[in-house]
Amino acid sequence: MLQSMPIRLLVTAALLTAIACKNRQDAHGVGVLIPKPMESSTGIGAFRLDGNTTIQVDTSHDEAMRLASHLSSVLEPVTGLKIPVTTAQGDSTGRIWLTLDATDTSLGQEGYVLHVDEHQVHISAHEPAGIFYGIQTLRQLLPAWIEGTAPTQIETREIQAVHIRDNPEYAYRGSMLDVARHFFAVDDVKRYVDLISTYKMNILHLHLTDDQGWRIEIKSRPKLTEVGGSTQVGGGKGGFYTQEQYADIVRYAAERYVTVIPEVDMPGHTNAAIVSYPWLNCRDTVHTLYSGTEVGFSTFCAKNDSTYALIDDVVRELAALTPGPWLHIGGDESHVTLPEDYVTFVNRVQPIVTKYGKKVIGWDEIANADLQPNTTVQFWADVPNTQMAVKKGAKVIMSPARKTYLDMQYDSTTRLGLHWAAFIEVDDAYNWDPASYTEGVSRQDILGVEAPLWTETIVKMDDIEYMVFPRLPGIAEIGWTGGAGRDWTEYRERLARHGSRLKAMGIDYYPSKRVNWK
Ligand code: ACM
Repeated sequence: MLQSMPIRLLVTAALLTAIACKNRQDAHGVGVLIPKPMESSTGIGAFRLDGNTTIQVDTSHDEAMRLASHLSSVLEPVTGLKIPVTTAQGDSTGRIWLTLDATDTSLGQEGYVLHVDEHQVHISAHEPAGIFYGIQTLRQLLPAWIEGTAPTQIETREIQAVHIRDNPEYAYRGSMLDVARHFFAVDDVKRYVDLISTYKMNILHLHLTDDQGWRIEIKSRPKLTEVGGSTQVGGGKGGFYTQEQYADIVRYAAERYVTVIPEVDMPGHTNAAIVSYPWLNCRDTVHTLYSGTEVGFSTFCAKNDSTYALIDDVVRELAALTPGPWLHIGGDESHVTLPEDYVTFVNRVQPIVTKYGKKVIGWDEIANADLQPNTTVQFWADVPNTQMAVKKGAKVIMSPARKTYLDMQYDSTTRLGLHWAAFIEVDDAYNWDPASYTEGVSRQDILGVEAPLWTETIVKMDDIEYMVFPRLPGIAEIGWTGGAGRDWTEYRERLARHGSRLKAMGIDYYPSKRVNWK
């Protein structure tokens, strides 16, 4: 009894210390990060941000300077001061140091090292994108309230000491936004870019055309938007992006290392284009503007050269607006296109895209055509199509509808969304691995992961946020972290702690009961 008492005290003290350390780590350490970094450890002590902090850039590389001033704005709410940016090699104590390290090629295009100790914060990368991702990680090490537009309390200015070395598993990590079923204004699309890039996603696939609307100005074919852009699901006035507005979106995304992939869906899903130019249809059907939600009733005429002349104009103008390497030709659900016409069509459209210097992406049905060497297939529904694509040498983007479709309802009580593929709860969206999901499609066949948001039932930004969060951060982690580093039970805790950050970002998320929100 006399001997066991001090031991009990010691055990209690050790337990309390462990809890204290854990709480500290939980509040600001690596245990809050989404997506989870490849390698990370929590160090001793913390870096203190104050009025003496400077951001130092070791190069006057324009991009590094731009990122430094981005970081300065991110940190402004923390100290209430605009932290000065300098290229001078000043005192190493009290600095946040950004370096581009030409020698560390193992960090690749997007990797970074983030080191925080009591004296300094150091983000180094081989390329500027890596610095950007290091900054996104640093943001999450700061208290959630810094994300708010009007922080009301200065709670702490410390950043937990950490060492992180990070690199993504997949080069392609994206989300698709359907701006055709309901049109979304430029500012909404920019907010979407902000949200996905926070989670280190680097692709925004814009579904620009469908039966209900054509949303991108094509100067040589003005009726596509004048007529085809004039409505949307439910009969609203629709809308479209002028080329100048679209270029603004592309530029805004590029500043956040997000590549925009434009999709013109064809030969099906083309009612809006056919109403604009009725000769695009060679069947005995009359087309009028459509604001319902059926699919599979329209098709371009695959036999007429005039169809391909219009597609040439569209692709030429769109390619000129697209700095990224890809153009998406859709190809899904062409239920009224004869199978032989469908193959003819896809075979004729691919060379038009490559002629303008772009690589083709299409939904998995395009595997039925002869795929060009650089054509990529996006798996959404059909396993045999996707296996055929791999056999033909194509790379695959993994967007299985049962896991990644963000318009699928969480459960039968969800007010928005559909459920034709599945109800997808937060754990369902997280608990799968692209490299083992589909027989015959392995890691080396996969370019990456994309989570599409179709908008038949999604009308405004609040609706987008409710359906996308909290599933999108999990899918971003699937793309960034890789299967071996992921586990739902552990992720659930990180996500729970992340709730306050989502709130501070003004995100109206679905508070899933499968997560014990903190
Ligand atoms: C699709 O969901 N129709 C690609």
